[in-house]
Amino acid sequence: MMHLLVTGGAGFIGANFVHDIVREHPTTDVTVLDKLTYAGNRANLADLPAERVRLVVGDITDAGLVDRLVSQTDAVVHYAAESHNDRSLYNPDPFVQTNIVGTYTLLQACHKYNVRFHQISTDEVYGDLPLRSTGSTAMFTSDSRYNPSSPYAATKASADMLVRAWVRSFGLRATISNCSNNYGPYQYVEKFIPRQITNILSGRRPKLYGRGMNVRDWIHVSDHSRAVWEILMHGEIGQTYLIGANGERSNRDVLALILKLMGRPADAFDWVADRAGHDRRYAIDATKLRNELGWQPEVTDFEAGLQQTIDWYRAHESWWRPVKAQVEAGYRVHGQ
Ligand code: NAD
Ligand code: DAU
Repeated sequence: MMHLLVTGGAGFIGANFVHDIVREHPTTDVTVLDKLTYAGNRANLADLPAERVRLVVGDITDAGLVDRLVSQTDAVVHYAAESHNDRSLYNPDPFVQTNIVGTYTLLQACHKYNVRFHQISTDEVYGDLPLRSTGSTAMFTSDSRYNPSSPYAATKASADMLVRAWVRSFGLRATISNCSNNYGPYQYVEKFIPRQITNILSGRRPKLYGRGMNVRDWIHVSDHSRAVWEILMHGEIGQTYLIGANGERSNRDVLALILKLMGRPADAFDWVADRAGHDRRYAIDATKLRNELGWQPEVTDFEAGLQQTIDWYRAHESWWRPVKAQVEAGYRVHGQ
């Protein structure tokens, strides 16, 4: 039996990863360490067997707790983070604490017990790319220069740097993956796709920042999870792997598709204030992951993946409804 410690496993991507482990890898069991911030939800793990998944509610900056849990595990997959760019613009403090100090705390414990570590990071550490309409065909690779724009991205970049230093200086057995924008079930309603779906489901109008031209490179969360498993099992220690599924789309195009799939008129949305420092375009070149580890995405039809996601939010109103009004009130304060 392999024992994994999954930090942030009660959040969107971590919970999807834990579900996939339970279904696909019967000789692996999981301890989730999660603080249950506003973004974490016990319900995300509720239907999983207790003999395979244990939830420990706690903070990754709690060195004593982290030491005890890491001493009992074979590997750590580190998802826990403050993850929302907009929030990082209004209050960066928890981002610095969780994303930097929390990662440092985990690294120290993994070094002490010689435990394998995988850092879940983001394409945002590389900053942004010019829009393709300017003639740019650039994409991020693991050789791209770190150039973060938001406090969130800067703290994720800092955490990645700590991981690299622990590999080089202490021989920590670690890998890093930088993934593009995920969508799928269990995503908190503050994020772009679930916000627009639940706006429509609750009789509100979707909200588009700026001119809607910013491009994100969408990947279904299940493809992200499969890539992380491959890297954990077969990735080369010290390496960085970029995860992406060639899913570049402008926000305006994604919203147009949501409106179409939900039977709403194409103009039934509001333009709202833009995000400060808004990154223009992300695009991942995942050649290294595909060639070295043989990974490829399975959800290649974005419209079908989006329809499935809409269906999930329709069927799980009791999951999102209790927090929806509060999230919208928070956005209204900032004209969004
Ligand atoms: P999320 O906000 O949905 O979940 C984060 C989880 O971490 C929550 O369960 C929260 O309770 C927990 N957490 C926060 N602070 C903690 C602390 N101090 N101690 C313990 N637990 C804590 O985030 P997500 O979208 O699932 O992202 C997960 C990871 O993936 C993050 O590291 C993020 O940077 C990375 N990532 C996200 C995306 C994306 O599109 N969402 C893309 C690439 C990488
Ligand atoms: O690229 C990976 C990153 O993707 C992750 O590291 C982050 O954790 C994750 O939150 C996500 O960051 P983004 O800022 O790209 O995601 P968000 O869902 O907040 O916004 C996606 C795009 O949609 C962005 O260009 C801003 C825009 N937007 C967002 C919201 C919430 C809108 O136009 N309207 C909205 O209401």
